[in-house]
Amino acid sequence: MESVELKINGRIYPLQIEKNWTLLFVLREVLGLTGTKCGCGTNDCGACRVIVDGTAKNSCCLIARKLEGCEIETIEGLARGNELHPIQKAYIEAGAVQCGFCTPGMIMSTKALLDANPDPTEAEIREALSHNLCRCTGYVKIVEAVKLAAKWMREEALKQV
Ligand code: FES
Ligand code: FES
Repeated sequence: MESVELKINGRIYPLQIEKNWTLLFVLREVLGLTGTKCGCGTNDCGACRVIVDGTAKNSCCLIARKLEGCEIETIEGLARGNELHPIQKAYIEAGAVQCGFCTPGMIMSTKALLDANPDPTEAEIREALSHNLCRCTGYVKIVEAVKLAAKWMREEALKQV
């Protein structure tokens, strides 16, 4: 076991972890942050996607102890109390959630995209989601959800100017 501090959703967690534990294992099995899903465990599906220092990454392939000092964001960090994040609301509004298993990973890829690029083209949206697999929706409604979230977030940003 090694002592490591991880910063997740703005909170520091002092942890004792094994050298080879992945971030996904630590999130789900140590911290109980089960919003991040395990679809494949082999870097193929994107269900485990989180944001590390602004970039969406598959947490099943990140060694947790190497992430000390990084800003890690998970799906649990998006809502403010009972108020869902605009991206979460947009996925619901657009009907982009069916079984929901891929949704946290999709939403984290969406957040990384919109944080960096508030007005993406459809091609940029599809590229940003190209590491996320969905077995249910056919992707059309997911792309619609990202466009809707981008619109709402731009409108919100304008109100604050
Ligand atoms: S569980 Fe990580 S990519 Fe599938
Ligand atoms: S909604 Fe079921 S896998 Fe995407």
